[in-house]
Amino acid sequence: MRDKFEAIVKDNPHILYGGDYNPDQWQDMPEIIDEDMRLMRLAEANAMSVGIFGWKAIEPEEHVYTLEWLDDIMDKLHANGVSVILATPSAARPDWMDKKYPEVLRVQANRVRNLHGERHNHCYTSPYYRKKVAEMNQMLAKRYADHPALAMWHISNEYGGDCHCPLCQEAFRNWLRVKYDDNITKLNKQWWTGFWSRGYSSFDDIESAAPHGENAVHGLKLDWQRFVTYQTTDFMENEIAAVRKHTDNPVTTNLMGLFPGFDPWKLSESIDVVSWDNYPRWHNDYQNTWELASDIAFVHDINRSLKAKPFLMLESTPSLVNWQQVNKLKRPNMNILSSIQAIAHGSDSVQYFQWRKGRGACEKFHGACVDHVGNENTRVFREVAQLGNILNKLDGVVGTSVEAKAAIIYDWDNRWAIDIMNGLSDRRNYPETCMEHYRTLWKKGIATDIINMEHDFSEYKLIIAPMLYMLKPNVAKRLKDFVANGGTLVTTYFTGYVNENDLCFLGGFPGDGMMEVTGIWAEEIDTLWHEQTNHLTFNGKSYEIKDYCELVHTKEGCETLASYDEDFYEGMPVITKNSYKEGVAYHIAARTGCDLLEDLYTQILDSTDVKPVVTWDIPEGVSVTKRMGSGQEYVFVMNFTESKQNITVDEEYKNLVNDSVVTGEVAVDKYEVMILLRK
Ligand code: GLA
Ligand code: ZN
Repeated sequence: MRDKFEAIVKDNPHILYGGDYNPDQWQDMPEIIDEDMRLMRLAEANAMSVGIFGWKAIEPEEHVYTLEWLDDIMDKLHANGVSVILATPSAARPDWMDKKYPEVLRVQANRVRNLHGERHNHCYTSPYYRKKVAEMNQMLAKRYADHPALAMWHISNEYGGDCHCPLCQEAFRNWLRVKYDDNITKLNKQWWTGFWSRGYSSFDDIESAAPHGENAVHGLKLDWQRFVTYQTTDFMENEIAAVRKHTDNPVTTNLMGLFPGFDPWKLSESIDVVSWDNYPRWHNDYQNTWELASDIAFVHDINRSLKAKPFLMLESTPSLVNWQQVNKLKRPNMNILSSIQAIAHGSDSVQYFQWRKGRGACEKFHGACVDHVGNENTRVFREVAQLGNILNKLDGVVGTSVEAKAAIIYDWDNRWAIDIMNGLSDRRNYPETCMEHYRTLWKKGIATDIINMEHDFSEYKLIIAPMLYMLKPNVAKRLKDFVANGGTLVTTYFTGYVNENDLCFLGGFPGDGMMEVTGIWAEEIDTLWHEQTNHLTFNGKSYEIKDYCELVHTKEGCETLASYDEDFYEGMPVITKNSYKEGVAYHIAARTGCDLLEDLYTQILDSTDVKPVVTWDIPEGVSVTKRMGSGQEYVFVMNFTESKQNITVDEEYKNLVNDSVVTGEVAVDKYEVMILLRK
């Protein structure tokens, strides 16, 4: 067991509890601010994100600054025991700037420049905007460097989207010049531009893809995604450098789960703390509550894995959102359960969007801790305060880790390549497939990291790599070494087809040497109609196959665990097992349901030393995780079903949620969470 990490905010070594707080919208109603302070104390809140969209309130006219309101808020929050996660306001701009410097406005892929409005509507390249943002950030950092409330920096808000303006096109070309050694022939080869006469004569001629322009060159599209990641990170680094001029408080930026627009693995190298905004569709009509809980756990685990240390849940709603197709209230206790789920997977915070509902504009009906009624006598506030009280008992959890021996590879470059590629069917479902494999481990209470293909594999015993279509340089070799050294690897259909620039491997799939470790050659892949099925028989039981059937041949020594039961490829292998040096590689050649995955993983896990975090049985729909550090272990038991579930614990524990003693057989209520500390 490792030592605990230091608390993210040194002066506030608690689970950070609070949310987005927008007092700039309430400046003409000072009584509201005072009431907020009282309510924050009641909810036992201790951290607020302030100023996220505050540019106009801070600089209403060019070079005219009004910061008295922010000074006052910083003082008040501090006086009330609340730390400030101070935002840089770059995510939304004041009118004067767009009017005077239109280059800051974003240009869409169709090359139309946006009008002033909304938010997240800026060019990442504009030298003027970068300069203005740096000035703003530096000014804020200088002013509040010694303010005792300043805890962290919230850099911008939910970076995302791309800009196709001339400045960005030129930056893209320069990025390509570096990547391809200023050699257009090299680029043409990697992008396979002999196809349809697409060859480029010069870097100067390259343009991003457009609805009315290029879409056939996959290398172009893939490199654009990488450039967008680079440019977004570069823009963010410019913001960070400015606050660093006067402060050394940790910086974060709120990520958006599986948002495909940029690669968070690259961006998070430049921040101190990973954070993300979590808005699941609880109580939907297409999924069990516990299936959704498992999908969210997958995303929490990515955020923990990004830096292999505690992260922050920087936004969530205490009740409902206002932008889903159906905006459902969180049922009683769901806010406590889903908030503690974040902690159970490694978050050191529970933060909401937002503290108080605004009166107007497009988020007035989005859930918040304080409703328009304006007092504490609401169902939502009561649950918020109840959670505040529970979190207050979790100081010991702060800085502890989740220790995983299993990992799933979910990779952004791979996702882009799968999305860009023409083929398969409209059900590519790469994220969903990874989440289904994950679910089988989640149900068993196995701690799992979610990593990218560049991550170190050596710390794991089991690596699952669903649909790893792209193999970047050295990935195949590192997977081979992983198995050679005793690891267990699981691959599926659509593995190892292309290199990092989307060029197909020659000599058979899975390419780049992966045939040697998997023991198979994937000759073809058949796509099924939505309602069509095939079947396989595994350990005497029949399982349904849907969407994809890869036609594979085993090499000598590779075992067939199951074959296709139907179609012209009946009898061909569908699940294989290949021993390679000290380890084993399994290949699942078809898309199946979770039933097969569960039974197969039970068998696979039996022969590894990847074990659940507890020795007792876990009922379906109950999630069990563990955080540990400096000699202490916290076991989180979360019932994501709509009925009572029984568990039998191995020892006597204290349940920190209600200070009860837990021993022997205990019932866990619908949506109940227990945090167990060994007595
Ligand atoms: C995002 C934003 C917030 C708010 C919420 C609403 O996460 O960062 O400003 O708009 O969505 O759900
Ligand atoms: Zn631009």
